[in-house]
Amino acid sequence: MSDAREPSANPPRGENPASGRRSEQRNTASDAREQSAGTKWWRDAVVYETYVRSFADGNGDGVGDLPGIRSRLPYLRDLGVDALWLTPFYTSPMVDHGYDVADYRDVDPLFGTLEDFDALLTEAHRLGLRVIIDVVPNHTSSRHPWFQDALAAAAGSSARERYVFRAAAPDDPAPPNNWTSAFGGPAWSRLEGPDGRPGDWYLHLFAPEQPDLNWRNTEVRREFEEILRFWLDRGADGFRVDVAMGLFKAQGLPDTTHPVHHPSQEGFRESPIWGQPEVHDIYRRWRQILDSFRGQRMAVAEAWTAGPEDLARYVRSDELHQAFNFSWLKAPWSAAAFREVIDDSLAATSLVGATTTWVLSSHDAPRHVTRYGGGSLGLRRARAALLTTLALPGSAYLYQGEELGLPEVTDLPEEALQDPIWRRSGYTQRGRDGCRVPIPWSGARPPYGFSLDGTRPWLPMPEDWGELSVAAQDRDPDSTLSFYRRALRIRREHPALGDGTLRWLEAPKDTLVFARDPGLVCVLNCGENPVRLPDHRRVLLASSPLDGDRLSGNGAVWLAM
Ligand code: GLC
Repeated sequence: MSDAREPSANPPRGENPASGRRSEQRNTASDAREQSAGTKWWRDAVVYETYVRSFADGNGDGVGDLPGIRSRLPYLRDLGVDALWLTPFYTSPMVDHGYDVADYRDVDPLFGTLEDFDALLTEAHRLGLRVIIDVVPNHTSSRHPWFQDALAAAAGSSARERYVFRAAAPDDPAPPNNWTSAFGGPAWSRLEGPDGRPGDWYLHLFAPEQPDLNWRNTEVRREFEEILRFWLDRGADGFRVDVAMGLFKAQGLPDTTHPVHHPSQEGFRESPIWGQPEVHDIYRRWRQILDSFRGQRMAVAEAWTAGPEDLARYVRSDELHQAFNFSWLKAPWSAAAFREVIDDSLAATSLVGATTTWVLSSHDAPRHVTRYGGGSLGLRRARAALLTTLALPGSAYLYQGEELGLPEVTDLPEEALQDPIWRRSGYTQRGRDGCRVPIPWSGARPPYGFSLDGTRPWLPMPEDWGELSVAAQDRDPDSTLSFYRRALRIRREHPALGDGTLRWLEAPKDTLVFARDPGLVCVLNCGENPVRLPDHRRVLLASSPLDGDRLSGNGAVWLAM
């Protein structure tokens, strides 16, 4: 198996992965040769998703920001992750909390300034942490100057060519096709014509304030290449590509035969909306740009696909480096389901020479403690799932707060809900706010050190989160936080973990047992009854206390063989 844990895989603590000086960012030919020979850091990196609004509030306005994140970087270093991913912090009207970008080259005042970004990046690099930032290419904000120009311009003008506009007769009330928005309602909104009568339609796969760009337009393609260069020049280590499978729509915009359009749902393999082949040309071009910069820059796709084989197309050797493995997140608590996802994912990525990118939670999905049953059962399972995740070959993405065992907040008052899904669904779907509640850092009452005392955080924080705070868990050796720190330390140090392959071993019912060579076995018991552990030298880490040589139900363990 390959040995990706050699010291060069991750920047040693304190080493600067990418210098902040722009003139030093571009690759020379000899850099490029050196880079392609070395181990690729992302292949087994543990990346921590920082949902910027909810991580730490530096200026006391109740909303998280870049200076807040900077002040908490030592926490992330001590947790033991390799990199952080920052969700969008660009200028935005915040209709979708930053996924509606009005200026791709600036920081929204709510989150700080460009100088704050530079300072955060420099400090992260100093601490040995890489930084990945979001790029949102499928749509802009309706406040983006391009869309404003398009609104001011005449139907059929080049300003409108950057988006997906369709003309219609004023007396025809039907939208151009039957597509619906991922947030609910039709995917089309209609402008008023110059005569005050109904005018052109424009496409928005998400909110009406997020018009879809037309990726068949050269100017759009060029603009995003420049945006990538802008942030690479500042020293960003890579990008998380939002809605990576959405940029192109089938020519002619035909009706879809599937009733559901959100890519996280089944039934979209033949969709005219998602996963059009042309998208891969874009990522080939982006790969060349990333490779032209110093210091192993990378990109990870948020690509919802029909299965692991479709997903693997995004990580072919001349395209993006990673793609989130959402089938891991979607799998129910079942040894058979987990086994199938593991086998299919490893088979698909190995065909293209990439590693898999395991993910259990994100800012778009209910937290896994709650998905796995909630309460103490959900937490037991979540800890077991973490040990399994970190033992699998490849890279893992953690979502802020999972290291504290935070549950989904399911009882946010309706008047507090902010996700556009709530309104767009006609107030029938509560949306994603429940996994976006700010992080409790310290203290017994909201805002738990997330913001200044007395400040109201942008989403209300539960009254009973004091015990879950970082400060409460910091020194408790049995806390979920201490467990994550131990797991991440062992993962970093153990030669078997990270990149490589796994070997399945015989397993009792409802249990998975696999070996990582040299010398580590992971056992996951998804059943309720205890199982006997295989012979081993030592227990490295267990997700819950062992009973002699037995692993209780809903638990996992790493064994040294
Ligand atoms: C992605 C983001 C999500 C956002 C959507 C539209 O799925 O993760 O939060 O709402 O794209 O940009």
